[in-house]
Amino acid sequence: MTSPEKIGAPSSREFDDVYFSEEDGLAESAHVFLSGNNLPEEWQDKARFVICEAGFGTGLNVLSAWKLFEETAPPGHYLDIISIEKFPLSRADIASHLTPWKDTLGSYLDDLLNQYPPQIPGFHRLRLSDSVTLTLIFDDINDALPQIQANVDAWFLDGFMPSLNPDMWSASLFGQMARLSHPGSRVATYTAAGNVRRALTDAGFKVERVTGYGSKRHMTVGCFEGRPS
Ligand SMILES: C[S@@+](CC[C@H](N)C(=O)[O-])C[C@H]1O[C@@H](n2cnc3c(N)ncnc32)[C@H](O)[C@@H]1O
Repeated sequence: MTSPEKIGAPSSREFDDVYFSEEDGLAESAHVFLSGNNLPEEWQDKARFVICEAGFGTGLNVLSAWKLFEETAPPGHYLDIISIEKFPLSRADIASHLTPWKDTLGSYLDDLLNQYPPQIPGFHRLRLSDSVTLTLIFDDINDALPQIQANVDAWFLDGFMPSLNPDMWSASLFGQMARLSHPGSRVATYTAAGNVRRALTDAGFKVERVTGYGSKRHMTVGCFEGRPS
């Protein structure tokens, strides 16, 4: 793994927030979203595993999940990734932002860039490999989720900070998460914001505040226990 000393991170002018950690985005992705969702253990005994991500951004989380799946999943298992992005980046910007991990991600990055769709709203289906598909939805997550039927096993909540992007972290988002989850579905997010933890709890997740990545002291993980009556 490339371990750059300080690689910097792309940021959004609109939201005044970064796409991933300034310390090491790939290491952050592994800590927060993979370990936070207990991967790769969770997909060992599921022939089909479904991840749903809020905020595709540069695709770094998708790439790290895809790579880990190819390296650790039992033969014959499938991974479906659904990732939703309201403000898609261009292919050139993604390639530029992920340059620090060009060697580590190798052909995974090349394959994703080759298939990256035009920035047109709607559903884009990418066959990443024989066992991994990506449904990339260019839309607001609050408009996209009600259109989906899925049995989500792991949620990657990676929108910009709730205080800077409150529209995304809406009651509708948490209600849809409950609709698309089953007992045992997991969630991980880099934020430890109290309102997010409360909203997840109200939606039926048992949440825990755990150690965050790098300079972030805390993050949140959770497990769905069922819709509250
Ligand atoms: C922290 S970045 C995500 C980083 C990304 N997961 C990665 O691996 O690079 C947050 C992303 O959420 C997107 N976003 C913000 N509000 C959104 C919304 N309402 N619906 C869908 N995506 C949204 C932003 O455009 C941005 O790409």
